[in-house]
Amino acid sequence: MTRKFDFLVIGSGLAGISFAIKASQYGKVALISKSSLDDTNTSYAQGGIAAVTYDPDNFEKHIQDTLIAGDGHCNEVTVRKVIEDAPAQIEELINWGVDFDKDELGKFDLHKEGGHSEFRILHHKDNTGFEIQKSLIKKIRKNPNIEIFENFFAIEILTQHHLGEVVTLHTPDIECYGAYVLDQETNHIHTFLSKITLMATGGIGGVYATTTNPQIATGDGIAMVHRARGVIQDMEFVQFHPTGLYNPGERPTFLITEAIRGYGAVLRCKDGREFMQKYDERGSLAPRDIVARAIDNEMKIRGHQFVYLDVTHKNAEQTKEHFPNIYKKCLSLGIDITKDMLPVSPTQHYLCGGIVVDEHAKSSIKNLYAAGECTCTGLHGANRLASNSLLEAIVYADVAAKHAAKELDTIKWNEFIPNWNDEGTKLPEEMVLITQSFREVEQIMSTYVGIVRSNLRLKRAMSRLEILYRETENLFDRSVVSREICELRNVISVAYLIIKHALRRKESRGLHYTIDYPKRMKSER
Ligand code: FAD
Ligand code: SIN
Repeated sequence: MTRKFDFLVIGSGLAGISFAIKASQYGKVALISKSSLDDTNTSYAQGGIAAVTYDPDNFEKHIQDTLIAGDGHCNEVTVRKVIEDAPAQIEELINWGVDFDKDELGKFDLHKEGGHSEFRILHHKDNTGFEIQKSLIKKIRKNPNIEIFENFFAIEILTQHHLGEVVTLHTPDIECYGAYVLDQETNHIHTFLSKITLMATGGIGGVYATTTNPQIATGDGIAMVHRARGVIQDMEFVQFHPTGLYNPGERPTFLITEAIRGYGAVLRCKDGREFMQKYDERGSLAPRDIVARAIDNEMKIRGHQFVYLDVTHKNAEQTKEHFPNIYKKCLSLGIDITKDMLPVSPTQHYLCGGIVVDEHAKSSIKNLYAAGECTCTGLHGANRLASNSLLEAIVYADVAAKHAAKELDTIKWNEFIPNWNDEGTKLPEEMVLITQSFREVEQIMSTYVGIVRSNLRLKRAMSRLEILYRETENLFDRSVVSREICELRNVISVAYLIIKHALRRKESRGLHYTIDYPKRMKSER
């Protein structure tokens, strides 16, 4: 079945929904989500969203903090644009019904996180993302110009390749005409034709054995664009959050927000000694890459599985008031954070690289825009500053909507795209062929492509992955399409890109640390 829309939005997180709301002023929008609308990384965000709000903070300080965290790899023009646009975007979120905490004087209660020189994180308790997601969903459900497709899985974007042309990296003007999308209830594959497509598929946590990301985070958008020969960059910069709650077997890992360190919590070894000053004068509030590496090192030296985060010296009532969800979660595991230290360890959390977009959120493929975690805008450089991600998602959704609105009338649907052909395929004989390969990818990546890397480990990871790649492509060609086989293909593509880009970088910078090239090269951009 073929469906036609002006805009096709793939993803229902902050990037996708905010774009859909804005684009709906100009045409009909299809918003698809592979799970329920609220099953997104956005829903999980705890700390909040960074923006300059009051004196003594100012744009220059936020810009410098972002550039320092990014370790010389940010695009300064992007950084300035995003940070200066932040207050207007925050106002828009508030107008859409998002409630940020205020103090007794009615001023916003701002938090501080690692790498920030000022208190500037707007938040809703310790579940900001849930508040944003809930408010936005309420808004789009009422919008007659947005048609919502939950449990619809995007398989491939449509390009000249689907008209029988050979498309390579060197093909000029690759165009996007929409996507093939699997309805997971009926198993029918629909052809969604669109004039403009926005990729907003979020993160890649599914590539690693432990992650703070929910199950939907399998890097589908990045893999789809890579297969369509779009430009992908900076995949080596995978961010590990220093403080995932150590609770073996729990997936996703429960996050202990960095805001708790901004509030005064400190990291300690099992014997109770503080260790962060040894690594950085900013101590427990140094940027994430430094803290995660320091914890990793302490754990390796001592042979421990975790370190402790200690907030017991702070006022118990205030701790419960600021971090009610963390308090409740830990209590359910027998840890009272007002009295006990909590065990934490670094966990995959975020990807700084992805689909390369310009200042209008346009990808290298014509009529394909991208926003949010699946992109590489130049804002984060080699290491994202805490709470800059929600900000990036909303700013880029905004510029994408504005630019796409101007282009819309110049684009026509491509009516020649054939429907999906599944001739000669059958159900996979055994599901275990897929699930086990998934586990193998996670193991390879967590063992060889983690916080500390080396040429030897990366090469070993690549050779193991090649076997999985060949087996999976073979299985895909023979099988009826399912979400599971598509996700497996996607995590393999994403893992491949991370390793390839890591092998290419002959230095240590930001989140990419290799024992073979421990120093940073002089300068870059
Ligand atoms: P997401 O919110 O992840 O949405 C992705 C959407 O794409 C989903 O709807 C999914 O179903 C859909 N999708 C994916 N693949 C397909 C497909 N093939 N077909 C159809 N649909 C598909 N950032 C901050 O700035 N501040 C924070 O405090 C913060 N805390 C965080 C805490 C946690 C635990 C986590 C995991 C992340 C946190 N982040 C934070 C990061 C931030 O939440 C994400 O980077 C951001 O929400 C990403 O938004 P997005 O719209 O790009 O993607
Ligand atoms: C956190 O709350 O520590 C996560 C913030 C982020 O990932 O930006």
